[in-house]
Amino acid sequence: MTKQIGVLTAGGDSPGLNAVLRGIGKAAEEQFGMEVIGFRDGFRGLMENRTIDLNEQALSGILTLGGTILGTSREKPHRMLVGGRSMDMTDAIVENYRRNHLDVLVCIGGGGTQKNAYRLMQKGLNVVTLPKTIDNDVALTDVSFGFDTALGIATEAIDRLHSTAHSHHRIILVETMGHQAGWLALGAGLASGADVVLIPEIPYDIEKIARAILSRRRGGKHSSIVAIAEGAISVEDAAAREKPEKKEKIKRQKSRKAKSNIALPEVSQGSNTLTLAKKLEELTRLESRVTILGYLQRGGTPSANDRILATRLGTACTALIDEGTYGVMLAAHADKAEPVPLEEVVGKIKTVPLDHSWIESARRVGTSFGD
Ligand code: F6P
Repeated sequence: MTKQIGVLTAGGDSPGLNAVLRGIGKAAEEQFGMEVIGFRDGFRGLMENRTIDLNEQALSGILTLGGTILGTSREKPHRMLVGGRSMDMTDAIVENYRRNHLDVLVCIGGGGTQKNAYRLMQKGLNVVTLPKTIDNDVALTDVSFGFDTALGIATEAIDRLHSTAHSHHRIILVETMGHQAGWLALGAGLASGADVVLIPEIPYDIEKIARAILSRRRGGKHSSIVAIAEGAISVEDAAAREKPEKKEKIKRQKSRKAKSNIALPEVSQGSNTLTLAKKLEELTRLESRVTILGYLQRGGTPSANDRILATRLGTACTALIDEGTYGVMLAAHADKAEPVPLEEVVGKIKTVPLDHSWIESARRVGTSFGD
């Protein structure tokens, strides 16, 4: 019997999604004679049974394209807006899985998608997931596709900011994405020689940042670049977060967010960075400017590394399906693609370990983490 694969892309888009769809579709058809259908706009398209046949024609010429030809959304099967009301649409999803005679559903996404796929697995569906996010924060995989491209974009941006900061003798703060993980700011900061790197894993003390910048100035360096992750946090805010009343507030905010059908950003999206720039200007008396890289980091053509990683994981995924292994995320471990049980992945995020070699190397070249 020809195996039927359903595939969807969910969560924020990421360079490499089309490369992975192509990898799955081509290997499924050419190597294993399987059929692949795509669902549009993440779990919503599966609920509404909006499909696209991922045949040779649909997959042709998409390897280098950014975004996802399927479309994506952050909608969850168990909380979807239907007729103005938030409803649990899991049964409709299960029904459409059966109606399309699927043998497996491949869900491509970040942490939220892993959770949603796991819930569907608990409802009896065969699922396989692939780790995608520019934030690189999916647990139990070395890397997620999209990260390398975003890292390249952020690095190039900081390279360019160096020369304008230098010409105007300014401090420039550049905010990267990353959610609650510092991979992008740290990687791009290290690659481009940022003078200060602020990541959520190392709460910062603004006085120490100011001191590092002033000491550079005394050494004849009249400009400074601060690479700041969107989730970076001050020592005071990190301590306040630990207070019971604050924890309660965060819990309430999280549960409001979980119930909401509109994906609210969990991170500052510029506001923390603007406040920090103002304070640094006061403390150092140096002109400060802010650049928020935002969605530029997610758009456009994937890097060669992301195309390779996405193709490796996409094609390996079909071999896994051929042997009937389900309920797993296919992770990148060195040069291997290895299945990890989904229940081990869900509910975890991969932050930067404090003893990571990138942190060590950055410190060795004199980068300040504001700690
Ligand atoms: O894709 C991950 C991410 O880029 C995070 O870094 C960011 O906080 C979030 O998505 C914002 O995405 P959106 O506005 O699309 O929900």
